[in-house]
Amino acid sequence: MNLVVVSNRVARGVANEPMTGGLAAALLPVVEKSGAIWVGSSGRVRDGAQKEPFAEIEALGAGALATLDLPAAHYGGYYEGFANSALWPALHSRADLIRASEEDYLSYREVNAFMARALLRFARPDTVFWIQDYHFLALGAELRDRGVTQPIGFFLHTPWAAPTMIEGVPHHRELIEAMLACDLIGFQTRNDCENFLDCVSSDLGLDIENGVVASRYGKTRVAVFPIGIDVEKFAVQAAKAVSHPDVSRLRRSLNGEKLAIGVDRMDYSKGLTNRIKAFDRMWTSQPALARTVSLLQIATPSRGGIEAYESLQSELAKLVSDVNGRHGEADWTPIRYLNKGFSQTVLAGLYRTAQVGVVTPLHDGMNLVAKEYVAAQNPADPGVLVLSKFAGAANELDTALLVNPHDIDGMARTIATAISMPLTERRMRWEAMMEKLCAGTIQQWFAAFVEALQEGQLDKGPTEPPIAEPPTLWPLRSVNTGTRYH
Ligand code: G6P
Repeated sequence: MNLVVVSNRVARGVANEPMTGGLAAALLPVVEKSGAIWVGSSGRVRDGAQKEPFAEIEALGAGALATLDLPAAHYGGYYEGFANSALWPALHSRADLIRASEEDYLSYREVNAFMARALLRFARPDTVFWIQDYHFLALGAELRDRGVTQPIGFFLHTPWAAPTMIEGVPHHRELIEAMLACDLIGFQTRNDCENFLDCVSSDLGLDIENGVVASRYGKTRVAVFPIGIDVEKFAVQAAKAVSHPDVSRLRRSLNGEKLAIGVDRMDYSKGLTNRIKAFDRMWTSQPALARTVSLLQIATPSRGGIEAYESLQSELAKLVSDVNGRHGEADWTPIRYLNKGFSQTVLAGLYRTAQVGVVTPLHDGMNLVAKEYVAAQNPADPGVLVLSKFAGAANELDTALLVNPHDIDGMARTIATAISMPLTERRMRWEAMMEKLCAGTIQQWFAAFVEALQEGQLDKGPTEPPIAEPPTLWPLRSVNTGTRYH
C-alpha cells in the first residue's frame, strides 16, 4: 500500500519548534513512522500556481513530505475566507460568526481542485488517499472527477454540527455530496457522526443503512474514530522535561503556590473569556485562594486577519489586565498570560508542573491538550483535569471534573474543588483516565482508520444512481476505543 495523507497544515518534526494546532502535531509521529507521503501547504503562495502544481519533496521519517505553494489568487478566499470564516464557525455551532461570499466559495473549490491535480502524480494502483479536515471537503469528489478509483478516506478533526448550523453554510448540499465521493468518512464522536447523517438525509434525502450511505458515487461508510495521543512518549517526555530550564524557572517562581494551566490556540471556540471570568469569580468569592493559586494561560495567536480572531485577542487582553488589576498584588500576578507558542517538550513539562489543567472549550472536536495534560502527570502525585463536557475528549475522560463552560459560577466552584482535591481521589480519577488513553492511542487510531479504508472500498465505480438496497457488507467493527456508530 502507498498511503498518501493530505492536510492543509503539515509539520516537519524539527525538535523544539513551537507546535501550532492539533492536527499537524498529532499526525507527525504516526505519519513519520508509517512511510506515508504527507502532502500539504508549504505556507507560501505563488502566482500562476494553479496552472502547474509544484511540490517540494523532502524525507520525513520512513516516508516523505510534499509541500505545495498554493495559488496566490485563491489562498485568502480559501483559508481565511470559506474554510475559517464559513466552515469553522458553522462546524463549531457559531452560525452568528459565519461570513461567506460566493468568491470565497469559488476560491475554496479552486484550491480543492488544485490539490486534486497535484495529488495525481502520487496516484499508483496501490495508492490509498487519506484526506484530513474541513479545508478539503470537496477533495474526494475532485479526485473522482479526475478518474481516481483508488480508496479515499476523509477524517474530520472538528465537530460536525447539527443540520440547522450546517445549513448556514452556502453550498452545504454540494459539499456534503462531494464528501460522499470518499469510501470512508471518520468523525471524532458519535454525536458528530449522527449530525452528519442527519444532514445527509435532510439535505440529500439519501438512504442510510448501518452507517453506510448510498449516493451517486456508490457507498460510503461513516464511522467514529476518536483520535488519541502517543501516551507513552508524552509521559516520558514530561518526566524528563521537568528539568528543562524554562520549566525549572517556572517552578522556582511559584514559591510553593499552586498552578492551573490552560493552553489553547486563540480561538473563540476555546471558551477563553469564560475561563478567565471563572477564575475572576473564584478569587472574588473565595479570597483565601488569592496567592495560593495562579493561572498560566498560553493563548497562541491564530488566524490573524480574521475579524472574529482579532476582536477576541483584544477582548482577552483587556479582560486579563482587568482581572490582574483587581486581584493582583505588588508581588503576586493572578494570571500569567502569554501569546506565543511553545515546543512540545516545554509544554509537557509545564503540564506536569501544574496541579490543575483547565480545558474548557465551548465546543471542540477532541481537544488533545486534555489528553496531553493527563499523560504528562506524575503518577505518584497527579494533577486534576477540569474539562468541558462539550469537548470530544469528555466522552473518554469522564473521570475528569466535567464542567459546563457557559456556567461561570459552576466552573469557579469546580476549579476550587480541583485545587484542594485529596491525593487518593486525584489518583483514582487519573488512573481511570490513563486507562482510557492507553486504550485509544494515536497509533491505534491511525491503524484502525487505514485498515478500515483498505478493507472497505464498497462499490465506487463510475457515478451510478443510488442503489436501493445496499448489501449488508458492513458489520461495523469496533474501532480504537471501542466507540462505534450503530
Ligand atoms: C484545528 C484544525 C486543524 C488546524 C488547527 C490549527 O485543530 O482542526 O485543521 O490545523 O486547528 O489551525 P490553523 O488554521 O493554524 O492551521
